[in-house]
Amino acid sequence: MAKRKWVSFDSWYGELFDDRWPLLRASLLKEPVYAELKEGLLKPYYLDEASCLAAESLEAEPGDTVLDMCAAPGGKTLLIALALGGSGRLVANDRSASRRSRLKRVLTEYLPEALLSTVETTSHDATKWGLYEQDAYDRVLLDAPCSSERHVIHSPAHLSRWSPSRSRNLAHQAYAMLSAAYTAVKPGGLVVYSTCALSPLENDGVMKKLLARRKITLVTPRLRYGEPTEFGVQVTPDRDDGRGPMYISRFCK
Ligand SMILES: C[S@@+](CC[C@H](N)C(=O)[O-])C[C@H]1O[C@@H](n2cnc3c(N)ncnc32)[C@H](O)[C@@H]1O
Repeated sequence: MAKRKWVSFDSWYGELFDDRWPLLRASLLKEPVYAELKEGLLKPYYLDEASCLAAESLEAEPGDTVLDMCAAPGGKTLLIALALGGSGRLVANDRSASRRSRLKRVLTEYLPEALLSTVETTSHDATKWGLYEQDAYDRVLLDAPCSSERHVIHSPAHLSRWSPSRSRNLAHQAYAMLSAAYTAVKPGGLVVYSTCALSPLENDGVMKKLLARRKITLVTPRLRYGEPTEFGVQVTPDRDDGRGPMYISRFCK
């Protein structure tokens, strides 16, 4: 079997984004733009503005049953809990024990008791969720583990481990999680798929595969910024005043 050629982070993203890459690269190295969440919380929480869009796209309402499949450290979970306003049920899941401890700390430090009482934390493998619960939630957020280029570019250790196959593997995993999200949501319910990746394999690539295999209706996100892609919206720091990266797509079952 022919061996795959070694490809660097810069040459791969340079090919994907062409003339745009130098500016996009430079924007990834700058500080993200943070939103200050304070209304309804015990103290202010700071979250990348584009992350707020992902949670808002869920359009959760009081009384809803919501699953946040990959929830830690919990910024989006806080926003969903605020939207539920103390009525309904929010399952905040994360498989990593250390990140789950951080999630629990965030929830207890920032949420007033009336909102906290609607949140339950769990530790399941999101790829297997569909085996245990079907047609169970009004809303599901899958904020998937992803290439997270903004993080990678700041870390020589992560950069040295980066390869295109990492992105391919993350895309496979995200597809398994998104299929499970499809199974877990009620017919007529809404699923939001988000990543902080620039790699199209993990964004539209995953949605394309799901559209080919499941009966879903795309629901265009209502966003204040970002650019439309084939199946969703991409917020990128070079074009969105430092916000993102964040990809958001959503669908109804
Ligand atoms: C992008 S982060 C989530 C960020 C979070 N939604 C927020 O807004 O703070 C992805 C999370 O997925 C978790 N994760 C990775 N693989 C998982 C799996 N198979 N099942 C459940 N969670 C998983 C990681 O531990 C990580 O915390």
